[in-house]
Amino acid sequence: MSLGTEGPQVVASPTFFPAPAVPRSAPVGTAARPLPLIIDSDPGLDDALAIGLAIARPELELLAVTTVGGNADVRHCTENALRLLHAFGRADVPVAEGAEGPLTGAVVRATAIHGEGGIGRSVLPPSPASPRPEGAVALIARILRETTEPVVIAPIGPLTNIALLLRLHPGLAERIAHLSIMGGSIGEGNVTISAEFNIYADPEAADIVFRSGIPITMMGLDVTHQATLDAAAAARLRATGTASGAIATELVEFALDRVGQWYGGTTTAIHDAVAVAHLAIDDLVGVARYNVRVDATDGLGRGRTVCEGLARRMQRHGLEPNADVGIRVERERFEDVLVDAFGRLP
Ligand code: RIB
Ligand code: CA
Repeated sequence: MSLGTEGPQVVASPTFFPAPAVPRSAPVGTAARPLPLIIDSDPGLDDALAIGLAIARPELELLAVTTVGGNADVRHCTENALRLLHAFGRADVPVAEGAEGPLTGAVVRATAIHGEGGIGRSVLPPSPASPRPEGAVALIARILRETTEPVVIAPIGPLTNIALLLRLHPGLAERIAHLSIMGGSIGEGNVTISAEFNIYADPEAADIVFRSGIPITMMGLDVTHQATLDAAAAARLRATGTASGAIATELVEFALDRVGQWYGGTTTAIHDAVAVAHLAIDDLVGVARYNVRVDATDGLGRGRTVCEGLARRMQRHGLEPNADVGIRVERERFEDVLVDAFGRLP
């Protein structure tokens, strides 16, 4: 069956009314005052690079990594988080396991891309640390209660844990300074034409989160597909000479092999790292204000983030903007940020 790779490529027409870039609403850390950060993740090839970036950047203070089933079964994601933190020199960062699957509906996985175990063919040394027995939601809740500084959470997998946190501890929503979410899309999805994986994997959870009133930045596919690495970038990661750089290279090369096999692709999007980099670097990502709603119905649009950016249409339908949405990132600069980060790690 032709995959449509022959003949002229027809580029889908972009949105008719692109929203204007606006000043960001997300906080940004500084080396003098690092941003307290929790990453909720389904490691995951790009998750791994996002975690390494969070450790390497002096503007961020990684307080915990919680895991959720998504790219792989949650037991793999948890073991991967432990081993990645250990490999990146931060086995002290607490890890706690969260939901295996969505609030309702079928379990969705991305093992075809990330491998059965979630990190390609990489085998990392075991960590001396173990997951915290309290579990993901309780760990996040404890940190939110105990940390005097406002805490930012970067959910870079399905949003199940965040939705459970809001349902179990509604009073803690106000202690979440910002959610920098990798997920969704103004335009096309990647699991279906309508839906991006993290939202598609648990639309009900995403709907709870986007309705929560918590300040949100949504790094959807529109911007993360600009944040790509190729074989030359993988070679730059290896050339850092660090063990962490070599791990990052192996993960990127696995992803490049997959896209190469599937459709002759030569680049891979490091989706999750955009949501983390935004919190450390003030002007890397351009954002616009949108009203984002999630389609949690069982129709063709299930898992779609319905993004309205046109002010007069929002007004006509009584909608308010509820998220910054990523629309622009300079690819070369993004690559430099990752190479620099993995050169700083052990
Ligand atoms: O659609 C991309 C997202 O799905 C990323 O978070 C990737 O890790 C996968 O979870
Ligand atoms: Ca992810």
